[in-house]
Amino acid sequence: MLKKNIGAEEAINRWDSFAKSYAENHSEQGDLHKEVFLNPTLFSLLGPVNNKKILDAGCGEGYFSRLLAKSKAKVTAVDYSTKMLELAKHRTPVELPIEYHHGNCEDLHFLTNASFDIIVSNMVMQDLANIEKAFHEMYRLLVDGGTFIFSILHPCFVTPASGWEKDHRGNKLHWNVDQYFYEGVYKQRLGDDEKVLLFHRTLTTYMNTLLGIGFELEKIIEPKPSQEMLKKYPSFEEDFRCADFIVFKLKK
Ligand SMILES: C[S@@+](CC[C@H](N)C(=O)[O-])C[C@H]1O[C@@H](n2cnc3c(N)ncnc32)[C@H](O)[C@@H]1O
Repeated sequence: MLKKNIGAEEAINRWDSFAKSYAENHSEQGDLHKEVFLNPTLFSLLGPVNNKKILDAGCGEGYFSRLLAKSKAKVTAVDYSTKMLELAKHRTPVELPIEYHHGNCEDLHFLTNASFDIIVSNMVMQDLANIEKAFHEMYRLLVDGGTFIFSILHPCFVTPASGWEKDHRGNKLHWNVDQYFYEGVYKQRLGDDEKVLLFHRTLTTYMNTLLGIGFELEKIIEPKPSQEMLKKYPSFEEDFRCADFIVFKLKK
C-alpha cells in the first residue's frame, strides 16, 4: 500500500532506474505517443521559437530540447534524474547548445527570475509531489507575458483506476474510469513491467492552482491523431474514443 504523500525523491528514484529503457524507446521524435499526439500539439501552441529563451522543465532524455534547439531556440533543460540527464547530454551533439541542469521543478532557485520567454513541460507535471510549488516556480521564471505550455495524462480519463473493459475475446468495449476524486500518488504502468509513481489530481485542482497563482488560460487541447498520423499508424483509430492527454497553454 502506498503512502498518499510521498516526496519527489522517492518518485525520482524510479525514473533513475527506468532511465535507460525509457530512453531506448525514444528516437528523434520521442516515443510513438509523442510523435502522434504531443509534438504536433506542442509545436502548434509554441509558434515560432527562433531566438526565444525556452526552459524544458523535466527534459528526460532530451528529445524535445533537441527539437527546440534545432528550431533555433535558446534552450535550458532541467531534470531531477541524474541518469536521464546523463543520457540527454550524451544524445546532444555539440552543435546544439543546450544548457542542462540537474534540478527539481519544485525548486529551481539556481535559475534567475523572469529569465524565460517560454516554459514547456512535456509529461512531467503529473510526476511532481508538489504541483503548487512547481507552478509558482514556472511563474517566477517567466518574463511578464511569457508562456507556459504543459502536457499531462488527461486527469479525467487516466486515473488511479482506469482502463479498457474487454469482452471474453479481448475486444475493447469501453474505457472505465474510477477513483477520479482521489488526489495523491499512485503507480502507473510504463512499458511492460515497469511502474512509475505519478500523482493524480482533479482537473479542478490543476486549473484552480494555476489561476490562483496568476496564470491566464489561453488554450487547452485534447490531442487526437491527424489523418496523416492515422495513415502512418492506423492502430491509433481507437484514440478517437477517449482522450489520453491534455495540453495547457497559459500566460503570465
Ligand atoms: C515522462 S518523462 C518526460 C520526459 C520528457 N519531457 C519527454 O517528453 O520525453 C518525466 C520526466 O520528468 C522528470 N521529473 C520527474 N519529477 C521531476 C521533478 N520533480 N523535477 C524535475 N524533473 C522531474 C523525470 O526524471 C523524467 O525524466
